[in-house]
Amino acid sequence: MKRRIGLLTSGGDCPGLNAAIRGVAKAAYEMFDAEIVGISDGYSGLIHGEYREMSSRDFSGILTRGGTILGTSRQPFSEMRVIGEDQVDKVRAMKDNYKWMKLDCLVTLGGNGTHKTAKLLSDEGMNVIGLPKTIDNDIWGTDVTFGFHTAADIATEIIDRLHTTADSHGRVMVVEIMGNKAGWLTLQAGMAGGADVILLPEIPYDIDKVAKTVNARNKNGKGFTIIAVAEGARSIEEQGMKKKELFANPYRTAAHRVAEQVAARTGAECRAVVPGHIQRGGSPSSYDRVLSTRFGVHAAELIRDEKYGVSVALIGDKVTSNPLDKVAGITKLVPPDHQMVRTAKQIGITFGD
Ligand code: F6P
Repeated sequence: MKRRIGLLTSGGDCPGLNAAIRGVAKAAYEMFDAEIVGISDGYSGLIHGEYREMSSRDFSGILTRGGTILGTSRQPFSEMRVIGEDQVDKVRAMKDNYKWMKLDCLVTLGGNGTHKTAKLLSDEGMNVIGLPKTIDNDIWGTDVTFGFHTAADIATEIIDRLHTTADSHGRVMVVEIMGNKAGWLTLQAGMAGGADVILLPEIPYDIDKVAKTVNARNKNGKGFTIIAVAEGARSIEEQGMKKKELFANPYRTAAHRVAEQVAARTGAECRAVVPGHIQRGGSPSSYDRVLSTRFGVHAAELIRDEKYGVSVALIGDKVTSNPLDKVAGITKLVPPDHQMVRTAKQIGITFGD
């Protein structure tokens, strides 16, 4: 049996992409007569026909490597059907290039946007398999995405390290954790790092309640406070604001806004820390190396069985798959009454609600 497989990585890079690519390739070479085509820079390479033939050597030594050997880019789903200034019909071009590259199937590794375009391509008749990648852990239908655990470990270490400065100087350290829509990463790292306040996009916060926590801790002789705020968290007042208005100054991010307001209300010395893309950098954790490998190998099994139009998922302890049309376009947010949130509240963590 011969299969010609196109691989692409799309959206923000994250640890585990190369491990997943390696998993697909190694298992495919073992299971059938596989030809693998590496498509450059995500959907951009498929639109513009930029790819390279790959061999087993390309997939050796990449298990521990961060980023993606294929390159990536952001190609907003909302613009996929829009003909831009370059006059390129992107969907038509992707269909034509799929044929021109003589692909039997396409494996797309990416987050929510990537999955929406994967479904579009599947609806257009291509054989597509999605692999759920994102540090945000917000893809519907899978318990966890690869990249999340590594980012959570990095963010936790950042919070651990901030504790020493917070304690020594008696400061409020406001650390901004990635996640625009979903707060899973902030919740996980915040709890693991022992943050006193956790602010999530899903739970609008009252800044006065945050300030009250800082004052109460000072009164109790704690002298410092760690606030973990998600990139996309908003106060009750900010809820009604348009993105343009809120980010009129793009460098005044969530952590800066919280630090400024807490300082004004409490008089405490506050520092905003934005670790940003450090959270997505470097080598995948042991958990992510194994999860990515399991996802990649399952994708090869699906190719062998010609089961397309699906996204690979971990449900319980089993790697399986969901139909793309059941998961693409649905963001898995933190339910405000999630057990983790309730647990955090039971040990005194403030969410500002
Ligand atoms: O989707 C992953 C993510 O890191 C989000 O947490 C964050 O909001 C976004 O990507 C940042 O995107 P970029 O790397 O394009 O700045």
